Order: sequence, then C-alpha cells, then structure tokens
Amino acid sequence: MSRLSLDFSNLKSFVSEKDLESILANIGSCHEMLEKGHGPGSDFLGWRKPGISESVRAEIEEVARSLRKQCEIFIVVGIGGSYIGAQAGRTFLKSSFPNNIGKEGSPEIYFSGHNISSDYHADLLQLIEGRDICVNVISKSGTTTEPAIAFRLLKEQIEKKYGSKQAKERIVVTTDSSKGALNQLANEYGYRKFVIPDDMGGRFSVLSPVGLLPMAVSGVDIGEVMAGAVRGEELYSRPSVMDNEAYRYAGFRHLLYQKGWTTEILATFQPALHHFAEWWKQLAGESEGKDLKGIFPASVEFTTDLHSMGQWIQDGRRTIFETFLLVEKSMRNLKIPASQNDADGLNYLAGKTLDHVNNKAYEGTALAHTEGGVPNLSITIKDRSPESLGQLFYFFERAVAMTGYLNGVNPFDQPGVEFYKSNMFKLLNKPGY
Ligand code: PA5
Repeated sequence: MSRLSLDFSNLKSFVSEKDLESILANIGSCHEMLEKGHGPGSDFLGWRKPGISESVRAEIEEVARSLRKQCEIFIVVGIGGSYIGAQAGRTFLKSSFPNNIGKEGSPEIYFSGHNISSDYHADLLQLIEGRDICVNVISKSGTTTEPAIAFRLLKEQIEKKYGSKQAKERIVVTTDSSKGALNQLANEYGYRKFVIPDDMGGRFSVLSPVGLLPMAVSGVDIGEVMAGAVRGEELYSRPSVMDNEAYRYAGFRHLLYQKGWTTEILATFQPALHHFAEWWKQLAGESEGKDLKGIFPASVEFTTDLHSMGQWIQDGRRTIFETFLLVEKSMRNLKIPASQNDADGLNYLAGKTLDHVNNKAYEGTALAHTEGGVPNLSITIKDRSPESLGQLFYFFERAVAMTGYLNGVNPFDQPGVEFYKSNMFKLLNKPGY
C-alpha cells in the first residue's frame, strides 16, 4: 500500500500528458543512469537502496535508550544535511510543541551548529545551565566550521560539568568512516561513533544514522521509518512514469520549469510539516541549483501565509508553481463547539472538525491559484506515522535526483557552497587560505 497519493489535475491547463510524453525517453535514460550508476555523481547513490543492518539498528536503539535515560536535554549539532532531516522527522512525528515530548519520557531536543550567531549559542548555553545534557555532533566531512564551533563550546561545558571521563558517555559522533577532524576527536576522546556511509551525501543521508539516531532519541520507531522508505523504493524505482509517481512529479516540474515557472513553492497546511519543508528546500536547492540552472525551491505554511505571501501568490509575477503537501488524517481531530448566542457567528461550523475546515481552505486555495495562473499539484500523505515519513523522504529523494538529471546537472555535488567558505577562511586568516 502506498501512503502517498498525488493529484495532477490542476496542472491540465499548464502542462499536458502530451508534454510529458515528449520527455519519456529522457526520463528513461535518466532512470538508467540512476539504476546503473553511470551518471554524474554516481559515487553517491547509496540512498537509492534504503536499509541499515540489524547490528547498526540495534546499536542506534541501544545508544538512544541510554541517552534518553541520562539526559534531560539532547542537542543535535550539525548543518545542512547533517541536522535538517532529523529536525523534520522530530517535528513531523511528535507534538506541535516538540519539547513537550520531554513529558513523555524523552529529552528536550535542540539543534545547534547550523549558524554562527553568538546570541543563539549563548542562549543555548544559558538554557542548558544546570540541566543534564547529551550531544550528538554530526558532520560527514568532520571539518565544517559551524558545527565545529558549536561542538567546541558544548564540549567545554560538558567537560566542566561532568569531567572528561564522564563526558564521553554524553557525546556521540556521527561522521565519515575514517576521514576528518571529528574522527580524530572521536578516537582521541573515545566517543561512541556512528558512520555515515561513504556513498551517501549529506542531504541524502536522513535515512542513515544521521537522521535515525536523533529520531530514536525522540522516541520514534526507526524500524517503521525504514519500512516506509523500503516501500518508497519499491514504488519509486519503477522505470515507467505510468507506474512511478515520483518520476511523474519530476517530469511535470521539469516541464513547468522549461515553460518559465522557475520557482516551486511547497505549500503545507500543517505546522508539523514546517521542518519537512526546510529539509525539502535543502534537498532540492542544493541538488538542482547549479550551472546557472534549477528550480528555486521555496515554502509557505497555510493558512498562516495566506495572510502574507498569499497576495503575491495570487496576483504577483507569474513565475511560480505550487506543490501542496497535505496530511489526510490528523493525529487528533478537534471539533468546533456550538455556542448558545453565536456572538461570533461561527455556529454554521459547529460540530465540524478542524480538518474539515482546513481541507476546505486547501480546496478554495487550489481553485483560486489555478484561476490566478499558478500551476499546482497535490501530494497527500495518509497520516503522520513513521512509515509515511519514510516513504515521503524517499519519494522526494528520487524525484529530486531525477529532476537534476533531466536538467543536465549533477544532483549529488555542491560546488557553489565552497565560495563563501573560501572567502570567509581568507578573511579569518585560516592557515592555507
Ligand atoms: O548536503 C550536503 O552535502 C551539505 O548540505 C552538507 O550536509 C553540509 O554542508 C554539512 O556538511 P558536513 O556534514 O560535512 O558537516
């Protein structure tokens, strides 16, 4: 059973099945590149076959159990693909007020190392003062500046509080099998370590210990996440567009891009999808935006943003297309109560569920945007379960890899990211720059 369903009917007046037919051969050869591994970036195709060994899974679960026991606060240190998937998973699967999960026997979870803000880190150090903390520092290269700075600050704090012997029980490293400064630190201090597979780039690594350990610490059944991803692989590695909705989605977004709709907005109606949208932007942006090409990925959260960006989307420059990401079934569905005097005039909704009203807001928005010249499609997720999340991660990984190849770029590198770094290092007088 698929936990995702797609609806392309609102694209009809913008791109047609005939348009899609015109690129079938191209999709077929990009599929071959992905499957046979002869396209650009083919050293980084490990994500295609989701799965972790029983021993790694058992170790993740065992470490997660011990971290949940010993810490009130768990800090994930990383940037880009090294933190954002874990944050997406935590927000998608847990309470809207995620640190409420502390009350279910899980530690509060915070993220750090994804900026260099003095105030952010000072606020975090203040927040953890007097609390029992653990840290998972994640970096594939093991040399990225932002997480390195955050980790140095936290390590100092942990060692001060617990002494260096106990500190090593509270620090877990996730990094490359052998390279990088983080490896050296792990060896020198004896930290527990998880390996990021060599054939998996950062933004494609959520279904490895990078995303799975933090999710396990927040109480998620990672076996179920992986089962969803495996189902995703069965569905979205099929060669034919007729049978493969990830390729269909990729094909349509490529056609829209070619016709001048160069920005895609991922529009959600659930705050639980907020960080998922951030993950998607990072995956799509870093994979597709290169060689002066690529769809610009943006996101909006409705109905909140219907009262801000909604105006632009409805009436602004016609360069955007929209992908609605919807959840069929809320975890809990509240009803609007009746009121005796109906002073607020809401009794016409009494007894209706919030899901019902939210869904009508979606339908009304999709209609208005279609009429306003915004091509749109919808992806509906069955529920906020770990299996659905696993399938959803895989769906977008496949679709983004396919779109990148269709547009003639290597979806698995990020040469543009080096430019700011080398300027910054020169300005900081880093040795060697
Ligand atoms: O997707 C990517 O490769 C990047 O976003 C990286 O995840 C990010 O730059 C962090 O790199 P690292 O894990 O080496 O610290």
